[in-house]
Amino acid sequence: MTAVIAAAGSGERLGAGGPKAFVPLGGRPMIAWSLDACLASGSVAGVVVAAPAGFDHELGGMERVEVVDGGATRAASVANALARVATEYVAVHDAARPLVTAGLLDDLRAILVGDPEADGVIAACPIADTVKRVRVDLRVDSTQESTRIIGDTLDRAELWAAQTPQVFRTAALRAALEVDHAVRDAATDEAMLVEAAGGRVLIHDPGVPNLKVTTPLDLRVAELLLAERRL
Ligand code: CTP
Ligand code: MG
Repeated sequence: MTAVIAAAGSGERLGAGGPKAFVPLGGRPMIAWSLDACLASGSVAGVVVAAPAGFDHELGGMERVEVVDGGATRAASVANALARVATEYVAVHDAARPLVTAGLLDDLRAILVGDPEADGVIAACPIADTVKRVRVDLRVDSTQESTRIIGDTLDRAELWAAQTPQVFRTAALRAALEVDHAVRDAATDEAMLVEAAGGRVLIHDPGVPNLKVTTPLDLRVAELLLAERRL
């Protein structure tokens, strides 16, 4: 299996003044934690990183790691990296999920190999919050201010939060990415595109923290969890 690491985002919401994948976390660039997990996994033969412009040298010379330019969207970054993948299976992973483990990558690949009918399997967790669909209520009668109101409440029992890694049969992911670029670029994960192509994608609850670093608070939490691992 090849691991594709999507690392070309700009990290607007983190606001650290540079691309999120290279922001220091526990004394090393955030992406180093994901690279460690990939390179320690017995299921991963090599890694392709989609990096932000000007950051390829940061990863230069690592054994079993190839670097490609990222694209304007996450899906474009993944498509660039996928062009270099020659293995039957591919794991797509966000550099923004530094808590990933080699064991999780191994488990996901084993699940997919064990189900010949499946096109992919993703790490995902049941949602803990009650989720509301919210819409804008335009009150033209008073101040013209728009107000957010609840449209409806979704059935939590059916809702899972998608994470990465997401492991696919490479041919299935490649075919799924061959859609109109507007559709491709609106995708927030790869499973979405494989689902849309009629694919069968399984769910695996990692059972370990696998949070995504989006905000400065997430960065602090990730730092604490990684420090705890070293104890
Ligand atoms: N990503 C990417 N190429 C892009 C956009 C995002 O490879 N053009 C990657 C990010 O590097 C990240 C993952 O996709 O590892 C998930 O994206 P997100 O958490 O949204 O990261 P950013 O886009 O960097 O953050 P923000 O949306 O706050 O700017
Ligand atoms: Mg983003």
